Amino acid sequence: MKPLVHDPDNRLWLLSTPSSGYVLRLAPDDSPRHVAWGPRLTLEQALSVSVPSGGDSSFDGVIDEEYPAEGPARFGPPSLQVRFDGGARGVQWHYLGQESDGGRLSLRFRDDHYPLEITLHYRVHDDSDVIERWATLHNTGADHPIEVLRCDAAAWTAPPRDGYRLSHVTGGWSAESQLERVPLARAETVLTSRRGHTSHQANPWVMLDAGDATEEHGEVWGAALAWSGSWRIAVHHDPDGRASWTGGAGHEGISWTLRPGQRHHTPVFAGLYTDGGFGAASRQWHAYQAGHVLPQAGELRPVTYNSWEATGFDVDEDNQRRLAAVAADLGVELFVMDDGWFGGRRDASAGLGDWTPNAARFPRGLGPLAAEVRRLGMRFGLWVEPEMVNPDSDLYRAHPDWVLHMPHRTRTTMRHQLVLNFARDDVADWAYKWLDELVGQHDIEMLKWDMNRAFTEPGWPQRGADGERLWIDHITNVYAIIDRLRASHAGLRIETCAGGGGRVDLGILARTDQAWISDNTDAVDRIAIQRGYGQLYPARTMAAWVTDSPNPHTGREVPLAFRFHVAMSGVLGLGGDLLRWSEPDLSASRAMIATYKDIRPVVQHGELYRLGDDAVQYQRGDRVVVLVWRLTSRPPHQPVAVRLAGLEPGARYRDEDTGRVHHGHTLRTHGLVPPLPPGDYSSALVRLRRV
Ligand code: DGJ
Repeated sequence: MKPLVHDPDNRLWLLSTPSSGYVLRLAPDDSPRHVAWGPRLTLEQALSVSVPSGGDSSFDGVIDEEYPAEGPARFGPPSLQVRFDGGARGVQWHYLGQESDGGRLSLRFRDDHYPLEITLHYRVHDDSDVIERWATLHNTGADHPIEVLRCDAAAWTAPPRDGYRLSHVTGGWSAESQLERVPLARAETVLTSRRGHTSHQANPWVMLDAGDATEEHGEVWGAALAWSGSWRIAVHHDPDGRASWTGGAGHEGISWTLRPGQRHHTPVFAGLYTDGGFGAASRQWHAYQAGHVLPQAGELRPVTYNSWEATGFDVDEDNQRRLAAVAADLGVELFVMDDGWFGGRRDASAGLGDWTPNAARFPRGLGPLAAEVRRLGMRFGLWVEPEMVNPDSDLYRAHPDWVLHMPHRTRTTMRHQLVLNFARDDVADWAYKWLDELVGQHDIEMLKWDMNRAFTEPGWPQRGADGERLWIDHITNVYAIIDRLRASHAGLRIETCAGGGGRVDLGILARTDQAWISDNTDAVDRIAIQRGYGQLYPARTMAAWVTDSPNPHTGREVPLAFRFHVAMSGVLGLGGDLLRWSEPDLSASRAMIATYKDIRPVVQHGELYRLGDDAVQYQRGDRVVVLVWRLTSRPPHQPVAVRLAGLEPGARYRDEDTGRVHHGHTLRTHGLVPPLPPGDYSSALVRLRRV
């Protein structure tokens, strides 16, 4: 079936992905209506789907909106709220026409009185069940601005079911991505960030199931927003069991104007339906990002060393050289010097904004260190935090007006820093210029782009009330800078970071290569953080370091093998003070890194199967990697078999370390007893190859 079928007589569209179908139509009043989202349908089946009448009482309203605009008899959470000159609100839809091309569909509408055009966009791919949606607004008038109070990317609707559950992540700094799977309240549930960045507390994706999905079975509907600033997803669950959700950039209460002639494009809010349970949902999301989001998805990510937990702010040429020598000897491929290398930086209180090497610490500049790192056979990377400034900096002394601020309001500092207003083109130009020079001068191969505080006093006094558009323009300018840097420096790779995992989403991942998903490097805490992260985001983006024991954050002592095995389930890095590691630990690390390089294609490019809470399996071609963690040994202190998934039942698999041959069927049904050593915090790695 073609990806897109239009039935003009019935004013209906059917979008088909490899395993799902999506149907919408126009109502007699021209408003776009949702019909179906689920398994694939033929056109005949799509036409036969019963559509709800919406009830007959004067208290009911339209319930099947495809993109609910505030307007007549519509009472759910709106995707679109606008106010026109003279005070009128809402939209009266007038259909203008459609454009389609392969898997792309655009439906154009205008308001039937005011000068507003709305285009709803859809895109399907032939290798993915993810459907991309976004919207465009266009003020076609010549005289008056239109006030935009909300402009979401899309609204998604799942069919009526009993007992919907909502899966999403919650958390905080150092505890990101904690998976929640809860009954969906018959109410409006709002997931949001009001912080100016994606946030540690919530992440812009949802998954819904009818209470019956498992890791391997069941229907799951979900959506993820490609946006790195404030955002909002409002889920509406009505008494008839219908669930819908609208999502887009910005939180409640901010508004901005669409000037005459101006167009606004929302970010993408992508949706996925699968009947293969949460495991299949995750694998589909991962494959979609590999195929359609990540810039260099096919590259194997290097084993990284990062200086932060070893030297903190006290970096200098000598200590970085010494760390680099040990890292290279262990097999590290990319050496990243973290915070502390620039301006008057000695702790968090000064220097941000002054992006020239600190002369006392790097009297010869960064060149000799970069050269030494390369001589040792590694790539060279650097930490930056471009969107921030310390009041104690030359930049702030020269440009106090460059930060977010409001008249007669205190400029609230957090971590002693203020947020630069990247919505200003002069600030964005300044940032691009110094980043471009820095990267070019030292051929920097990795930038760790950090962002360590939320927005406060988000004002731009010269712009007055319309300054609120900065919530959007700050982010689009961050995107534009990264895009330009990548375009002019082909070898540059970027790690997204905001005090750990405060800025991970499909928007930033479209222009970065990996994410620092948490400042918490305790391997035990990390299991849950990585598990929540992996619900949506793929292992090839999940940077994970092995650090010191006791862990500097938690004080927990965990064996080296366990720390490695947890970090090896993502993009392996080292982050401890290697100069203090014992010879036996260094030698074990060398071996672990070599093993990781062997399994890296399977972990980074394979398919993930979660095997219970404390084991993961990656599979690629004929290779399978299983990582198992056991926190506490319990009587009878024998390892318990772990059932593998996704294997061919009729095939045989050889354990690459023991030589033992297993049947796919029995690995799936009876499992594999992992070679866990005795004691707490024990872990194992199993490599299998199909024979
Ligand atoms: C927060 C990051 O998450 C850390 O890894 C480190 O880069 C610090 N910032 C540096 O200030």
